[in-house]
Amino acid sequence: MGILAKRSEDKNIVDTVFTMVNKARDAKVKYGNENVVDVTIGALCDEEGKFTIFDSVSKVYKNLNNMDIAPYAESFIGNNDYLKEMKSWVLGDHEGEFNVGAIATPGGSGSVSSTLKNILDPGETLLIPNIGWGPYKIMAKEHDLKIETYELFNEKDEFNLESFREKSSKIMKSQGKVLAIINDPCHNPTGYSMTTSEWESIVKLMNDLSEDGNFILLNDIAYIDYAVKGYEESRKYMGSFRELSPKNLVVFAFSCSKTLTKYGLRVGGSVFISNEKKNVDDYMRANEFTCRGVWSNVPKGGMKLFSTIQSNENLKGKLIEERNIYVKLLEKRSKIFLEEAKEAGLKVYPYKEGFFITLKIESEKIEESIEKLNKENIYPIQVAHGIRIAICGSPSKKLEGLAKKIKDIIG
Ligand SMILES: Cc1ncc(COP(=O)(O)O)c(C=O)c1O
Repeated sequence: MGILAKRSEDKNIVDTVFTMVNKARDAKVKYGNENVVDVTIGALCDEEGKFTIFDSVSKVYKNLNNMDIAPYAESFIGNNDYLKEMKSWVLGDHEGEFNVGAIATPGGSGSVSSTLKNILDPGETLLIPNIGWGPYKIMAKEHDLKIETYELFNEKDEFNLESFREKSSKIMKSQGKVLAIINDPCHNPTGYSMTTSEWESIVKLMNDLSEDGNFILLNDIAYIDYAVKGYEESRKYMGSFRELSPKNLVVFAFSCSKTLTKYGLRVGGSVFISNEKKNVDDYMRANEFTCRGVWSNVPKGGMKLFSTIQSNENLKGKLIEERNIYVKLLEKRSKIFLEEAKEAGLKVYPYKEGFFITLKIESEKIEESIEKLNKENIYPIQVAHGIRIAICGSPSKKLEGLAKKIKDIIG
């Protein structure tokens, strides 16, 4: 017998991202920055390759009062003004259309993790996309959950509703409840965003299945503020939740990491909606307990930062303006890569917007392709069913000619 609980014995994070980040860093030292293409970096960087810091955010943070930072938050679920502003920011015009609850969490990660914990019992199954953010699986294991995956795309490169339906139905039949994750808009790592009609089909499916139990959807919106369409249009799909069966619940996992580029502040939250008030009240009650039982409360200064900006039209306007520069930059970088990829016949998943583009590679060829690319000083990240190109962290000039080069190297 060792020191660990049985359920913790095989916990071990194999971090392929950090390994590749280090390889790229070593190559830059050895061969010079200009001779290395580092597309590992998952954070937003400017055209000089420097980590993006929004002045409109930093100025506000520096001017916060010490008492806005040092004491505990107002309550376990967060500061009142933060909860108010987060609900309003996440839902926009839709806020008045449902019963709404909110809690602050340590980043979007805290939102995802607490949702898994409070919706599913150990041994139950969580439904996630076959291509997606790696930590979903880690969090599932942390809560002793099983994983089932749906195919994210069909052969037409649209959201694979059939696969989502098939897997959800199977889970509903066997466990009488479904918790499914959809990371949209600006899916990590493909950059896909669903259409409003795809969302309407999801709601219809959730309602059909709710005849046999509750359907809980975790909509991970970590990147929503990088949608090209802008604030209102990117939230239009939320209107389709007006039709949700009262048995269902939608939890939005919100993150200030990307919205403010304040990854290290660890501020995010769950905003949850239902057409049945009891669902929202029950979910709130359980989550308040989790807040106290796991992290106690979220950094007060981070919450104050967000609420100060969002409640002031001038500050909010400045942030939107500054962030828009990067939305446009991402658009520009994506165009460079995608147009060349098309010309070269390099296959990519259907990118629309966001931080990453992912190459379509057969699973058995991924590792050897990455090795070949590394030999030519190109450093991308391995993901399920592909290779991720982080256009967020790579200056445009580094992306020029890259798609053709990759095609020539990996064939
Ligand atoms: C898809 C996705 N969801 C959620 C998060 C949560 O990030 P954080 O916990 O920093 O808010 C991230 C961060 O990389 C992400 O990529």
